[in-house]
Amino acid sequence: MNVQPLIDAINFKGIVTGLTHDFYRYPARFSPLFARAAIEAFTSPGETILDPFMGSSTTLVEALALGRNAVGTDISSLSVFLARVKTKLLSGHDLDALEEWAIDTAPELSTRSPVVRHMDWHELGYQINLPWRFRKFAEQALNSIAELPTQVQPAARCILLKTVQWAVDCKKRLPTTPDFRERLIENTFTIVAGMIELTKRVKALGKEPGGIEAHQCAAADIGELQSELLRRRPPKLVVTSPPYPGVHVLYHRWQVLGRRETPAPYWIADCQDGQGGAHYTFGDRRRSDHDDHYFARLRTAFAGVRQVVHRDCIVAQLVGFAKPEQQLPLYMAAMEDAGFKEHDLGGNGKRPSQEKFWRAVPNRKWYTWLRDETKQTSEVLLVHRPA
Ligand SMILES: C[S@@+](CC[C@H](N)C(=O)[O-])C[C@H]1O[C@@H](n2cnc3c(N)ncnc32)[C@H](O)[C@@H]1O
Repeated sequence: MNVQPLIDAINFKGIVTGLTHDFYRYPARFSPLFARAAIEAFTSPGETILDPFMGSSTTLVEALALGRNAVGTDISSLSVFLARVKTKLLSGHDLDALEEWAIDTAPELSTRSPVVRHMDWHELGYQINLPWRFRKFAEQALNSIAELPTQVQPAARCILLKTVQWAVDCKKRLPTTPDFRERLIENTFTIVAGMIELTKRVKALGKEPGGIEAHQCAAADIGELQSELLRRRPPKLVVTSPPYPGVHVLYHRWQVLGRRETPAPYWIADCQDGQGGAHYTFGDRRRSDHDDHYFARLRTAFAGVRQVVHRDCIVAQLVGFAKPEQQLPLYMAAMEDAGFKEHDLGGNGKRPSQEKFWRAVPNRKWYTWLRDETKQTSEVLLVHRPA
């Protein structure tokens, strides 16, 4: 088997854009090139791929573009929202409606105009720490989205989500109102172009698009999922990236002007959160028994995955470690307990976790939980098969 494209993909340092991958800046997402190379190396068209920690659905988008079926699960409802928007191909007519909406709405966003407030979301705390100007623009835009045809509304919400994230998340200075308006339109064009590109790729396959399912579900519970695809064609490939041990990632909040956090993305996407950060990262990083807790959750998650995959399935995962020497052996032991053995990818009897499968990830939105530790997190490709 030629694994060179997979190695090239994990070592690629640039930013990969295109298709619907630019719809939202999800923290710790992996490169589409990695998902693409794994899908091409290990599956044929028509087969099913599973990503039990789908995040921003990179795997699902690539599977769709390559004529495969895919099932994605995640415990975050925001992830499910993104997966559905990014894999639902809209008609040319619907894309025109999106552009018209943005062109009409952007100039109307104003701090001076009155707005019908979203008091129910406000009272539930979803608007907390969102600077009032952007809270008001979001309310104005959401009120106009409600007038759009139902099938267009999620994509319009996604445009707004991307724009408010750009305006406030990890920003030291907030943009002006004209800049916000301009960005809303720019983001609409990006999203429409991505949708057109994905539609062309799917049409070029010359057959019905593969089935895509996105579910809000903990990986440990996948065995109980009502999934037609999993039942019909057990996955031959898992491509995934679980939460990383000892590496804190803020999946479910935007960070505003320093360390203030807002759950506003859930409000804009019209989905429920209600969980603390530890829920999304396999445990609270501040707990003294963090590693024990993390590996126990990893074990049950992959035991759930084991129940639904084909007996010849390949599991390809990119995992980042804060302390690789300590944590990698524990990781491998947890995978073994869950029913997976390491797979010799190179066919040369050497462990795959060698130098070429490691890469240093520049520290952007995540940071190791000991503040004075290295600013780099090491990521490794791990390949397993059912034992
Ligand atoms: C590293 S991210 C995945 C990023 C993804 N590969 C992408 O390209 O966007 C890990 C994801 O695991 C999800 N997650 C955490 N615990 C989970 C669990 N028990 N079951 C399913 N998903 C979980 C988080 O919500 C997060 O979206």
